[in-house]
Amino acid sequence: MIITRARLDDLDAIMALEAGGFEHGSWSYDSWSAELTGDDRQVLGYRDADDRLIAVATIQLLDDFADLLRVVVEPERRGQGIARKLLIAAILMAQASGAVRVLLEVEEANAAALAVYRRLGFSAIDRRRDYYGIGLHAIVMELPIDRLSYSPSSAEEVAS
Ligand SMILES: CC(C)(COP(=O)(O)OP(=O)(O)OC[C@H]1O[C@@H](n2cnc3c(N)ncnc32)[C@H](O)[C@@H]1OP(=O)(O)O)[C@@H](O)C(=O)NCCC(=O)NCCS
Repeated sequence: MIITRARLDDLDAIMALEAGGFEHGSWSYDSWSAELTGDDRQVLGYRDADDRLIAVATIQLLDDFADLLRVVVEPERRGQGIARKLLIAAILMAQASGAVRVLLEVEEANAAALAVYRRLGFSAIDRRRDYYGIGLHAIVMELPIDRLSYSPSSAEEVAS
């Protein structure tokens, strides 16, 4: 596997991931295009041995903090630690750009995403009622980057 910055020519692959990732609130082609070209955005892709994009994450860099906006993994490749590795890379890159903490919003019912974020060391700091629509509440989570939870072995995996 290899983690690299995603490119505009990854857009079709990103849209395929998006289609397999969300029942509602999907991002459009234009939204992802803006992520890939935004000055304050860092979009990372996770590629398999055949250079196929199997996961993507985007993060916004804002002064001394970063906002984790999206992460999606191909359905067939979930549960293999891919989101964890991709997010470790994204968070360490945000730290290298000056961020000391990362914030995110996640749908309260998204158990998989909550588990990934908690495993990395994020904790809930707020709840936003009906944030994604009626009955779709958001949890706001925060991670001080010096509390990022990763083992030396996972850092080696990310660097490989
Ligand atoms: C959320 C998502 C990105 C997780 O990707 P993933 O590659 O399967 O996650 P990982 O394998 O890296 O899991 C990391 C940790 O979270 C846990 N976890 C992942 N999915 C889980 C689930 N469905 N239930 C419980 N725990 C889960 C894992 O057990 C793992 O912990 P461990 O290392 O202690 O075993 C993936 O399910 C996805 O793409 N979902 C659709 C898009 C989405 O909801 N994105 C998040 C909001 S933008």
